[in-house]
Amino acid sequence: MTKPRQERLQLQQAQIDWQQDTPVSRTFDDIYFNKAGGLAETEYVFLGGNDLLIRWQALGSASQFAIGETGFGTGLNFLCTRQHWLQTAPADARLHYISCERYPLSREDLRQALGHWPEFSDGAQQLLTGWPPACRGIFTLAFDGGRIQLTLLFGDAAEMLAQCNAEVDCWFLDGFAPSRNPEMWTEQLFQQLARHSRTGTSLATFTAAGVVRRGLEAAGFAIAKRPGFGRKREMLTGQLIASAATVTPQPWFARPAPAISQRREAIVVGAGLAGACTAAALAHAGIRVRVIERHATPATEGSGNPQGALYIKLPARPTRQSELHLAGFHYTTRLLQPLIAEDPELGQLCGLLSLALDQKEATRQQQLVDEATYPSGLLTQVDVEQASSLAGTRLAAGGLWFPEAGWAAPARLCERLLSHPNIECHFNTPLESLDYDDAQQLWRINGGRFEAPAVILCTAAESIPALAQRCPLTLTLKPIRGQVSSAEAPAGEPPLQCVVCGEGYISPPAHGRYCFGASFKLHDRTLEVRAQEHQDNLTLLQGAAPALAHALDSQALTGRAAFRATTPDYLPLVGALPDEAWVVERFAKLRDDSNWSFPAGMQHLPGLYINTGHGAKGLISCPISAQLITDLLLGTPLPVSQRVYESVNPVRFAIKKLIRRSI
Ligand SMILES: Cc1cc2nc3c(=O)[nH]c(=O)nc-3n(C[C@H](O)[C@H](O)[C@H](O)COP(=O)(O)OP(=O)(O)OC[C@H]3O[C@@H](n4cnc5c(N)ncnc54)[C@H](O)[C@@H]3O)c2cc1C
Ligand SMILES: C[S@@+](CC[C@H](N)C(=O)[O-])C[C@H]1O[C@@H](n2cnc3c(N)ncnc32)[C@H](O)[C@@H]1O
Repeated sequence: MTKPRQERLQLQQAQIDWQQDTPVSRTFDDIYFNKAGGLAETEYVFLGGNDLLIRWQALGSASQFAIGETGFGTGLNFLCTRQHWLQTAPADARLHYISCERYPLSREDLRQALGHWPEFSDGAQQLLTGWPPACRGIFTLAFDGGRIQLTLLFGDAAEMLAQCNAEVDCWFLDGFAPSRNPEMWTEQLFQQLARHSRTGTSLATFTAAGVVRRGLEAAGFAIAKRPGFGRKREMLTGQLIASAATVTPQPWFARPAPAISQRREAIVVGAGLAGACTAAALAHAGIRVRVIERHATPATEGSGNPQGALYIKLPARPTRQSELHLAGFHYTTRLLQPLIAEDPELGQLCGLLSLALDQKEATRQQQLVDEATYPSGLLTQVDVEQASSLAGTRLAAGGLWFPEAGWAAPARLCERLLSHPNIECHFNTPLESLDYDDAQQLWRINGGRFEAPAVILCTAAESIPALAQRCPLTLTLKPIRGQVSSAEAPAGEPPLQCVVCGEGYISPPAHGRYCFGASFKLHDRTLEVRAQEHQDNLTLLQGAAPALAHALDSQALTGRAAFRATTPDYLPLVGALPDEAWVVERFAKLRDDSNWSFPAGMQHLPGLYINTGHGAKGLISCPISAQLITDLLLGTPLPVSQRVYESVNPVRFAIKKLIRRSI
């Protein structure tokens, strides 16, 4: 059974003592690796125990391979595996490495530990750059241009695996000796290992403890003993004999059948942030993508602002939405790091202040700080003096400081993401028709001008008309108008040093201009730029950074207005589209009993996906949603928890409406 969700996301970091070159856990009184033989032990126990080199040599072009691990520790197993994968597997094959870690190392300890392996310095650098703060959750990092995807499950292994949506080809069972860490080697863990395995999934572990052997056998693995490494007498290897029949309490959330196998092609409609991120994620996975966009250039609508903030508003009690935003925040900042290093005009990870401008916000911030809900690597509390010093201008209040956040230039980012050799853009091309050819299992767009087995609609609020008769009952998107204002940075006024958010937001100047905003106008379907909304934006700024607002007041203001596409529950719509008529008929019993048990089975519109509804948070939610869609299309491990996958799933509205008897 899934354990209850924890409110506190901050994890205890690893307590490490160094015995010469060997890192030792103070908590478990056990070593992470042995400098003398650590690498050879990894190769012998985990790679050899799973016969990985032989299996990888046999992989075909564009294959996927997934490894699960308990106990990421210093990442030695991962970096060693990466090295062998890069040398052995086909260049277009992709490795998914999923690893659980309950006590993440601090970045400093990680750097020191990895310093012992100069042969892995390239991978170690990528790991250190992407390393998340010690926060319970799922964090995905891309290595080597997307050839390897590392998904870190920070938290207890059994608990996090219960929330993970993945099937693996083999397991590395690390995690300190069972005698020193009996809490990890539990029946719950063994059941989770079986749940994420298919028949033939292999495992290897350094231990030969009876409790481990018996637990794995009870979960369905056939276990064998091999001679252990060095002075260790024995170790265990195994294979899942038959995958257990899994209970699916909510069959409507079942994953769609992977749409991309033989013909590795997809069409993305819309070239805003959602479309550009989706095209790029697919292109990195080796899929040929055609993007069709009605305008002459990308990012002409919602994604066309000069700057946007990488802003997350975290509640004192974590929610599904905040879980998505946390994972998305990490994903976006890691995506941006190398891109900004190449092109500084793409944005700046200069830090962001979220000011406590009224009592309610101050109380909320104080609560999450007092309860230590989030780790200090993610946010720290600052008073008004500290905040003003970070910003380089006098601010109206203190607040929360997010050192890893910043801003990005959405339109420039879209252009950069679309410039991949696997992506072909067709501008001035509106979507006019969308038809499915059952016999060929292909979608045909605009009377057959474009065809592919998979289509992803990234058309913001226009997605519903594009779907025409396909999901008429359940999906709705509301466009909410917003205007940003722009002004030349005033001479003599020191430039802002970080993003400042209060009721509105402002970023440090780009190309000598500030961009700040933004208004929210429901039920307003016009896009003209209004003097009144510039004034409103200045008033918002006045409340946060009075001196800067005063200096900008005398500047000429320009701006632009656009729509944010918003769903009724303010979570995006991401995933495979359900076959609505089938869903309504099959799950009709929900109208009488919301707890009714249904047999397994779910039907989607084959190969038709959506990525929209990103509201005011597209920079945070579009990139991770694009990865989620790519993994759904390929049948590979998801970059988000099951909870988040369900909460963005387009089928949720059909199910809610059935339960409320509104359809
Ligand atoms: C004023 C304002 C300020 C914002 N500030 C921030 C911020 O600070 N931080 C943040 O994270 N987010 C911010 N956002 C939100 C963010 O900009 C959006 O979430 C994001 O741009 C959504 O991207 P999208 O690709 O879904 O939509 P869009 O950028 O609108 O892209 C949809 C694309 O689909 C195309 N399209 C539609 N129909 C068709 C068709 N039939 N055929 C072909 N093409 C079609 C459109 O032309 C368009 O290019 C802000 C939004 C606004 C409006
Ligand atoms: C021997 S170390 C792993 C070494 C690691 N594989 C490497 O390559 O460096 C064991 C790891 O398991 C982690 N661990 C212990 N109990 C855990 C649990 N219940 N859930 C997840 N990780 C756990 C420890 O924090 C530690 O990092």
